Amino acid sequence: MSFNIAIDGPAGAGKSTIAKRAAKELSFIYVDTGAMYRSIALGLLRRQTDISDETALLHALEEIEVSIGYEDGEQQVYLNGENVSGLIRTEEVSAMASRSSAIPQVRHKLTDLQRNLAAKENVLMDGRDIGTMILPDAQLKIYLTASVQTRARRRFLEQTEKGMSCSLEEIEKDIEERDYRDMHRETAPLCQAEDAVLVDSSEMTIQDVVDRITALARERM
Ligand code: DC
Repeated sequence: MSFNIAIDGPAGAGKSTIAKRAAKELSFIYVDTGAMYRSIALGLLRRQTDISDETALLHALEEIEVSIGYEDGEQQVYLNGENVSGLIRTEEVSAMASRSSAIPQVRHKLTDLQRNLAAKENVLMDGRDIGTMILPDAQLKIYLTASVQTRARRRFLEQTEKGMSCSLEEIEKDIEERDYRDMHRETAPLCQAEDAVLVDSSEMTIQDVVDRITALARERM
């Protein structure tokens, strides 16, 4: 039987960096489910689908195929066979992913893909509803969070390093709003599974968090 680790939490808590590193240390396959939602979002944007029109949305979803593969140990995501891994991190795609991932039909499309991967392999899967909906029997569940102030500071540093001008206050407001939306949406809202271990990374380094997760996994394997 495969061993599954679910990591959920809000945006900006360092999930993907930490998950990627922890998976490598444990020789697990890392599955970034956010990338799958982003690929569907890209497909919808390319088709200029009006996602508030259910018929149009269903039609577009029928034509959109998402799959994942690995190159040099890195997850690649394919949209109808095209590797779109380098095209899904734009603001436009983020905004569409945030809106479209709240729609049940969009989530439904990815459920089997995610569960099938976890059934076959030892995976460390990160997302928003992995421990609560996708892998309720995961052997280890982590809810990774950090204070709004910490997450805002991290994003502020990231953006200023890239030479982008931004305001810390605006970023904080943006994070608060996004948290509220993610936690209050009707379908698969972000919440901590009852049996998840809460890890607050506000005062921890990335390696501290990785060490904590790998230690918990090794205890249970
Ligand atoms: O983690 P991320 O920023 O790459 O996620 C992109 C979007 O997809 C984000 O709006 C949250 C959503 N998402 C989701 O609803 N469920 C998941 N399991 C993963 C991501």
